[in-house]
Amino acid sequence: MNITVIGLGYLGTTHAVAMAQLGHDVIGIEPNAARVADLEAGRLPFYEPGLQDALTAAIGSARLSFATAHGESSKTAAVHFLCVGTPQSSDSNKADTSYLYSAVEALIPVLSTDAVIAGKSTVPVGTAAELAEHASKLAGHPVHLAWNPEFLREGTALQDSLAPDRIVLGVTDEHSENVLREFYAPITATGTPLLTTDLPTAELVKVAANSFLATKISFINAVAEVAEAAGADAVRLAEAIGLDERIGSKFLRNGVGYGGGCLPKDVRAFIARAEDLGVSSAADFLHDVEAINARRRERVVTLAQQTLGGVSGKRILILGAAFKPDTDDLRESAALDIAKQLDDLGAKVVVHDPMALPALVRQHPQWAGDQDVFAAASGAELVILATEWRQYRELDPFELGTKVGAKNLIDGRNLLDIARWQSAGWHVDALGRNIKNG
Ligand code: UDX
Repeated sequence: MNITVIGLGYLGTTHAVAMAQLGHDVIGIEPNAARVADLEAGRLPFYEPGLQDALTAAIGSARLSFATAHGESSKTAAVHFLCVGTPQSSDSNKADTSYLYSAVEALIPVLSTDAVIAGKSTVPVGTAAELAEHASKLAGHPVHLAWNPEFLREGTALQDSLAPDRIVLGVTDEHSENVLREFYAPITATGTPLLTTDLPTAELVKVAANSFLATKISFINAVAEVAEAAGADAVRLAEAIGLDERIGSKFLRNGVGYGGGCLPKDVRAFIARAEDLGVSSAADFLHDVEAINARRRERVVTLAQQTLGGVSGKRILILGAAFKPDTDDLRESAALDIAKQLDDLGAKVVVHDPMALPALVRQHPQWAGDQDVFAAASGAELVILATEWRQYRELDPFELGTKVGAKNLIDGRNLLDIARWQSAGWHVDALGRNIKNG
């Protein structure tokens, strides 16, 4: 099918590449000329495993092209996917939907009467219906607008797009449903469930899913607080409760908490929308979810102060800058939150990351350490593991111990083999556990 993908951020770029790989003919539309030039040259503007090769292949197959604005070819598209950003507003917790409105307005002149507009961006419930009304008014006829939320995770974005757990379609007319069912046939043919529903339910599915995931993480982090006070081990506890199929072991890793471009923003947007709808108490618990998340980062700072007897003037190495491994995304990263708090207290903070150092140099050059982790560790009196990159799991504590000024470790992700680090002479703390140091 001929389609356009409007907005080439993380979501749009991945969707465009993945759908071209599935055999559709895709035009990616993005007003940022530099980004379009990069993509046309086959350069992926962010790090995502497997996506660079897939982009090169899609361009090579001539199924994928890019433009800064719609042209004649947009008129033949059967589906226009809206993938623009819906960032948090600068003056409130609400999502800013203005890019969606601009995208729809730019689309109207090339929108054929049969074409379907399929929104993928994460939006406050009610946005799709308003957008449909706005578009229909501008077009002078009812437009086909559907909502098709995206659940891809950074680090596994391509695989999540090609083989999602489910496809959700919010539709108001049969034509949109038929077109989108046909569009996704290569995926549903492999057994992926496709659920159809109305617009508000489809919109809510996404924020509900992300709020649930954030709640699950904060739940285990709250248990970690109790475990610390009670002399228990939250990691072992999570293993035990995770074996209950009703609970499940995923998203039950306690640590410095959730970050990224989605979970924090979606939790806040859910709270804001519930307030708007007059049901704010329904989302009250999410304030606690946020507070628990913030406390875990503060806990690391407290542990650092206790370990070093105050952090002012002390050199501290933070392992990891990205909000999670296999991405170079720094948005709402727990690692950088901790870096800032320690910096504010006068510590000399050095941050290392296997992939995100270029992004860190652009945004926080004062913290950027050497690309070589052993060089970055030179003279550090404390090492804090904040992002669970595989490279860190494999780090040799004996070798690292020869570089640092003092062998103190806080494992903020419960990633490391504590006995091994201790046998190399390290003093170890880890969140949610009660580590005995000899
Ligand atoms: C999330 C959703 O998972 C995805 O479905 C949606 O489309 C976009 O938002 P993503 O932002 O890529 O994806 O990150 P995710 O894998 O959900 O992790 C979010 C954060 O939670 C990370 O900071 C991660 O380190 C943290 N996390 C995750 C934990 O602290 N503990 C866990 O057990 C799991």
